[in-house]
Amino acid sequence: MQPEKLPAWKQLSRHAEIIARPENHLKHLILGDSRIKKFSAAGAGVFFDYSRQRLDSKALSLLFELAKEAEPLKKFNDMVAGRNVNNTENRAALHTAARSFAETSVFVDGRDVMPEIKAVREKIKNFTSRVLSGEITGSSGKPFKHAVVIGIGGSCLGAEFVSTAMRELALNKIDLHYLSNVDIHNFGAIAEAIDPETTLWIVISKSFTTAETMANASQARAFMQKQGLDPAGHFISVTGKGSPGDDPKAPVLESFHMFDFIGGRYSVTSAVGGVPLSLYLGYENFEEFLKGAQEMDIHAATAKPETNLPLTAALISVWNNNFLNYPVQAIIPYAAPLARLAAHIQQLNMESNGKYVDREGNFLEKNSGVIVFGEPGTNAQHSFFQLAHQGRGFPIDFIGVVTPGYPQYQNQSQGVTNHQELWSNLIAQPMALAKGKDDNVRAKYFPGNRPSSTIIINDLGPRNIGRLLSFYEARTVFEAFIWEINPFDQFGVELGKTMASKIRNTMAARNGGDDYHCEKLDILDEFYLDMLFSGKIPE
Ligand code: F6P
Repeated sequence: MQPEKLPAWKQLSRHAEIIARPENHLKHLILGDSRIKKFSAAGAGVFFDYSRQRLDSKALSLLFELAKEAEPLKKFNDMVAGRNVNNTENRAALHTAARSFAETSVFVDGRDVMPEIKAVREKIKNFTSRVLSGEITGSSGKPFKHAVVIGIGGSCLGAEFVSTAMRELALNKIDLHYLSNVDIHNFGAIAEAIDPETTLWIVISKSFTTAETMANASQARAFMQKQGLDPAGHFISVTGKGSPGDDPKAPVLESFHMFDFIGGRYSVTSAVGGVPLSLYLGYENFEEFLKGAQEMDIHAATAKPETNLPLTAALISVWNNNFLNYPVQAIIPYAAPLARLAAHIQQLNMESNGKYVDREGNFLEKNSGVIVFGEPGTNAQHSFFQLAHQGRGFPIDFIGVVTPGYPQYQNQSQGVTNHQELWSNLIAQPMALAKGKDDNVRAKYFPGNRPSSTIIINDLGPRNIGRLLSFYEARTVFEAFIWEINPFDQFGVELGKTMASKIRNTMAARNGGDDYHCEKLDILDEFYLDMLFSGKIPE
């Protein structure tokens, strides 16, 4: 049932009008000693402060009421148990199983999938430690020093976020590069940065049909051959069981399976992240990261709504999106290593929840999904915070880290260390956004009443990165479970791909290929094709 039919939803609609009144401006709501106590929670190593969300006690209790009526927790537990929650694709969604170290079985269609998941983990451990020890080498006998991930979207962004976040823990034996875009500038830059003889190419694609990944893999193979190197000794693959790339006869050094019950954007804790991250950080760090994610999974599945961090965060997303009408969610980590978090959550959340229909195929009566973007603080402050403060406000997740890396640098400027300076901004910004400021000069007036949450972890160790990842994954699926949509399909990406393939065929035919069938293109498409083939813009 769509949630707007639920009693709590109707009450929330009425209450949103009350919250919009001037007396419920955030500058008033935040007053009182018990605000932080009442509007925050801690769990699985994460502190979540939502005291600067536009909520009063009534709104909060109605949201928890909504959690009872829409049953997101039950649906989450159905997901974890391997039920068919991805109904449009007739599949389970079991990213949580990828990081389970429990002895319990997880059945999909009557088959326990845990032995296979654990076998893939063992294979990753074994293969990556043999590469790192120099036992497995490139075709000319030299140990590997570069690994290039060829993959896009969920087959890249998660690993990129995690490897960037944990850069300080890198073993520094293998440099990791990401080749996602089919743009030749990306390939060209990587080709210049690597030494082909010591390069391992990791082709990651669940479908093994993604055009960009196939083009880049083909480009990389041709490049290696041109250097006189046998690609078979330099390529490994991570792909879906039964995909066109899952060919035991394919000439690759090694191949790893991902499973149809783990969606691309939820796959960083599978072999998709496991292979590159273990090469970069060592398998032990990867396993710690998995254990952090598992901790938050257990918290999400078992904590009651009032203390459940990702569920509370999801309820607040719904409140902000559907009742206060904010179409955007920013993620601003005050930790440079989390620079790729927003890019990852952008795909995770927008590809999952940017939907038009509910699980039954009925058109939605409300918006689901928000536009996610973000940059690290304080850089973001000097970039787009003008709009955040005085333009169109939007909810922000501020993320802070208590203990930074690099303890050796303790110089003080204006009496504080760099990390303290960073925190002074992390503390100030949510308050400035919430309270605003009166000023007789109108251009200097700050309206305030702009909502934010503050999420704090102790450090950027693998456990906390795993917890943070799982927090956002669980929040995403909780949102979907409340909206009664399917967060595991992504039909919305297909139309553009089909159109590109028509244009590709026409280009190929114009390139001189005889076996390409051309369909009639739109006049505008023809216009741009002519421009490309002419090599210049029209005069
Ligand atoms: O086009 C979107 C998408 O299918 C994502 O869902 C996915 O993460 C990405 O492309 C890559 O897909 P694949 O792993 O099959 O190459």
